[in-house]
Amino acid sequence: MATGTQRAPGDRRIILNAFTMNCVSHIQQGLWVRDDTRQREYTSLDPWLELARICEAGCFDAIFLADVVGLYDTYGGSADTSLREGMQVPVNDPMLLIPAMATVTEHLGFAFTSSVLAAHPFIFARQISTLDHLTGGRVAWNVVTSYLQNAAQSLGFDRLPKHDERYERAEDYMEVCYKLWEGSWADDAVLADTERRVYVDPAGVRPINHAGPYYSVAGPHLSEPSPQRTPVIFQAGSSDRGRDFAAKHAECVFVVAASRGLTRIAADIRARTRAAGRDPADVKIIAGLSPVVGGTEAEAKAKHEDYLESLSLEAGLAHLSGNLNVDLSHIDPDQPLETFNTEGVRGPVKSLLDSAPPGTRTFGDLVKLNMAGQFLVGSPEQIADGMARRLDQGVDGFNLVYATTPGTFVDFIEGVVPVLAERGLVQREYQPGTLRDKLFGRSRLPESHFGSTFRSLAG
Ligand SMILES: Cc1cc2nc3c(=O)[nH]c(=O)nc-3n(C[C@H](O)[C@H](O)[C@H](O)COP(=O)(O)O)c2cc1C
Repeated sequence: MATGTQRAPGDRRIILNAFTMNCVSHIQQGLWVRDDTRQREYTSLDPWLELARICEAGCFDAIFLADVVGLYDTYGGSADTSLREGMQVPVNDPMLLIPAMATVTEHLGFAFTSSVLAAHPFIFARQISTLDHLTGGRVAWNVVTSYLQNAAQSLGFDRLPKHDERYERAEDYMEVCYKLWEGSWADDAVLADTERRVYVDPAGVRPINHAGPYYSVAGPHLSEPSPQRTPVIFQAGSSDRGRDFAAKHAECVFVVAASRGLTRIAADIRARTRAAGRDPADVKIIAGLSPVVGGTEAEAKAKHEDYLESLSLEAGLAHLSGNLNVDLSHIDPDQPLETFNTEGVRGPVKSLLDSAPPGTRTFGDLVKLNMAGQFLVGSPEQIADGMARRLDQGVDGFNLVYATTPGTFVDFIEGVVPVLAERGLVQREYQPGTLRDKLFGRSRLPESHFGSTFRSLAG
């Protein structure tokens, strides 16, 4: 064992999520053409049910579903590349997969992404409550603020609201949701008393009368209280404003960074959480990771090379152009990194160039690295070592990015999970209860969370 991270079972453990999206090509662009992946079948239920069963057999915490509600059309000034490459378009609704996957599992959680620009919070809060009921409290919401111009323009905005204003809207959105979930119905409002023919005690149901800068919602909430009431809140903002939002609201923060940056990011998120009056342990830090597992290191390296060859650089550029909101079609992918005048390039591109690990040769290589997330390539023991190192850097778990699905997850579960289990680093069986029970040992938001302050509304 390479590190001093042997832990007794039941100690701090690694949280494991399968990261995916209801579309053909999610992160590692171009691999959808391979024969060893089920990506092209995303419109049918079968691959999703198979994935859910696999993840539960591997004792994963959750399937984490990303989502966008617009086209990536920055690259070359159109969405043509995205469409040709199936790059996050076509994309179906993530939420609708959840009840189906829940019927073939008992414990697995389901985190899904929904933007505050997309659905009205009154409607969205009811959808969440419905899912929380149907899954027995296994739902998490990844709160995002959208970054695609095309999404905003399809959702009734002239253009994407400015970055910090999107977070202001998100604050108002959260408040509406908390009031509906936490404050609108008393714990004992539902009587279901067949003798007296009283299903709900009207005294236990309150309007919320929310009048915020963006939303006016009278309420009351239309759903009765669900097991978790508020779903487990995920967030993935990386800006200062995004991290402060996470410190106030998030219970799990999804970060993508090279291993060398994780310690600083994790410390920063925990410091902000403390400053927000919360226990830093109440926020789990979940890092993106692309495991490529082989029986031996050589086998894993060969597999990695094979994936790299199938990657589509152009689709990666279209993805990154949308993420950065900068058209990267003007940059020659073969341009060596050392020839860039970093003083002359715009902010996001400069940050991208600055993020290049030592030894990265060309711009194209950097894009490929970026698209592939954080690769960890090796034998099961080597992957387990790498994960344990990240745990020591302050990370609590991983969103595992696939190269092929379900292949990447199967390889990980068959190869790496037994090694991690041997070291006491992952659960071998599920704890009872809701997703929040499984992650935090409680089914409701703690008192120190901003959302719980709205409970007083319910008397
Ligand atoms: C790892 C990661 C995953 C994300 N996943 C999504 C997603 O699936 N859908 C989406 O609309 N935004 C996604 N985002 C965007 C953010 O949640 C956030 O709204 C955006 O980055 C703007 O906030 P920021 O400037 O604070 O990062 C993701 C961001 C990160 C860092």
